[in-house]
Amino acid sequence: MKNLGILLSGRGSNFEAIADKVESGKLNANIAIVISNRADAPGIESARSRGLKAQVIPSKGKVREEHDRDVAAALCAHRVDLVCLAGYMRLLSPWFVQQFPNRILNIHPALLPAFPGLEAQKQAFDYGVKVSGCTVHFVDENLDHGAIIVQKVVPVLDGDDEHSLAARILEQEHIAYTEAIGIVLEGKFSVEGRRVILR
Ligand code: GRF
Repeated sequence: MKNLGILLSGRGSNFEAIADKVESGKLNANIAIVISNRADAPGIESARSRGLKAQVIPSKGKVREEHDRDVAAALCAHRVDLVCLAGYMRLLSPWFVQQFPNRILNIHPALLPAFPGLEAQKQAFDYGVKVSGCTVHFVDENLDHGAIIVQKVVPVLDGDDEHSLAARILEQEHIAYTEAIGIVLEGKFSVEGRRVILR
């Protein structure tokens, strides 16, 4: 069975959705370690209460690559096959990305390449788009940029505000992330340029 390593910084609802699918047997994987760069992340508490290995590796005041080396060491010590960023609010160093080629996934709450960066749901709402959604993609050295594995579309309703839109996008994130993890773990895909082709 393949080992997942989850990196998070906050609430952890995507982590919980992944953990639920693992626990129910719908995702054939093992969560080997959950790492947070913030001690106060609710997600890390949730990992502990599920009996999962949870580790805080504080990033504050640390040089980026030094912190990344500590994180990579913890992931390797737990034989992690696939790294899943789940609300990890920290840019990764090129060094870290190179350690795990095509083995780091991220979820972004917009239809990339639209609205990368912070507060993507608000960006989309303020822009006035009629549809938004979420994207699960491989992580490369640029922010919110790597090849796209799964996207889910969410309509923007006339009565929406940025919060109601974000809540509906989040529901789709929880579906999209395990779907993408399943695709990658089963290895039934190839990456051709920017395109992820399912086999
Ligand atoms: C999600 O909206 C995700 O798309 C973004 O950060 C948020 C994390 O939420 N990258 P949670 O911590 O998984 O609840």
